[in-house]
Amino acid sequence: MKIAVVGTGYVGLVSGTCFAETGVDVTCVDIDENKVEKMQNGVVPIYEPGLELLFHRNIEQGRLHFTTSLEEGIKDAEVIFLALPTPPGADGAADLKYVLQVADQLGHILDHYAVIVDKSTVPVGTGEKVQAAIAANAKVDFDVVSNPEFLREGVAVDDFMKPDRVVIGSTSEKAAKIMDRLYHPLVRSGNPIIHMDLRSAELTKYAANSFLATKITFMNEIANMCELLGADVDLVRKGIGTDSRIGKRFLFAGIGYGGSCFPKDVSALAMSAGEVDYDFRILKAVMDVNHGQKTKLISKVSQYFDGDLKGKKIALWGLAFKPETDDIREAPALYNIEALLEAGAKVVAYDPEAMENVQGVLGDKITFAKDAYTALEGADALMIMTEWQLFRTPNFEKIRTSLNNPAIFDGRNLYDVNDMRQQGFYYVSIGREV
Ligand code: UGA
Repeated sequence: MKIAVVGTGYVGLVSGTCFAETGVDVTCVDIDENKVEKMQNGVVPIYEPGLELLFHRNIEQGRLHFTTSLEEGIKDAEVIFLALPTPPGADGAADLKYVLQVADQLGHILDHYAVIVDKSTVPVGTGEKVQAAIAANAKVDFDVVSNPEFLREGVAVDDFMKPDRVVIGSTSEKAAKIMDRLYHPLVRSGNPIIHMDLRSAELTKYAANSFLATKITFMNEIANMCELLGADVDLVRKGIGTDSRIGKRFLFAGIGYGGSCFPKDVSALAMSAGEVDYDFRILKAVMDVNHGQKTKLISKVSQYFDGDLKGKKIALWGLAFKPETDDIREAPALYNIEALLEAGAKVVAYDPEAMENVQGVLGDKITFAKDAYTALEGADALMIMTEWQLFRTPNFEKIRTSLNNPAIFDGRNLYDVNDMRQQGFYYVSIGREV
């Protein structure tokens, strides 16, 4: 089987590489010549655990190719994935220009039946627009399918190879059969391929991400209540998570959700609700609460320093929006840095992967440390922004002797509250003020 993946961003590259690993011949197409050349030379353009191994193996075995030519890329491809960017436009709605441009080009050059798959997260109704854009010039038969992606950064390869489910939105039986054949190796464990219409598949993606963002936000509100009521959110989490109707996952309170997906998708769903005159009130509350949650620790830091952060040096552990990624989009750390700098504090940060990206955005507004402990030297407090594994069992003695004050503000609830207090730390976390 031969397929093409147009767009080698996060989703495109992971999908292309993983399909190649199942034995399919994959050509990835991207307009960025520089990036394509690098990939042809074996350079993986993103940080994603496990990807590099598969990437190299499949290039070496001749199943994974890269080109800047759409025409060359789609030659004989039975399935053509569109994994193109859909950035929020000026009005906040997803900008479909890249998707529709490629659809238009496909209409001109497609010379055989193919299934065109929307893998990008796109508003309901996009599949029909893609269909129309291709049909305007198409000389051959084709089908458009929505196949939303549910992979998480940091565990993307695993999520792709063992999906909880695969959603296929199409009313064409021919297309559905081809998609089943392509995904068959990934659902051998019995997880379902769920077939539905185009629009329902498109909405499924937004519903999934918005539901998860709501689940996290609900727990963040419970955490805020715990602080006021003298309860412990971690115990409440265990108490409710064992109810199979609620589930254990995505119940961790913290400093808000970030990343390139949840914030964008929650806002896009709220907006498309508005377009059909529906007031999606829960989503508005979710966005509002999450915004406040991101900088929740700052007031506690400020309180510790009697309201004056001027000249204080704050060490930050973690910059990425979550562990195992260098992605800093909508990262809570950035909002905290902004608030700290505004209050006149100095920031020194350490992150195992994301420092280069932050330097690109903030330049020399903050300083970067070569490792976690160097960041603490002469700092007045430590704030933990990302739950990287290496922060979970640190050398507390070293933390205490490096910091000017033994104060830790933990946005990810990494340590035991009583233990920290026994060790003499001033320790503040989220929703555990028992
Ligand atoms: C998310 C979804 O989980 C994927 O299923 C989806 O495919 C992806 O968006 C997408 O639309 O492309 P991702 O953004 O990589 O994946 O990250 P998550 O692991 O879902 O975390 C999102 C945010 O929620 C992070 O900021 C994380 O710190 C936060 N979070 C997560 C919590 O605060 N508490 C939790 O219990 C779980």
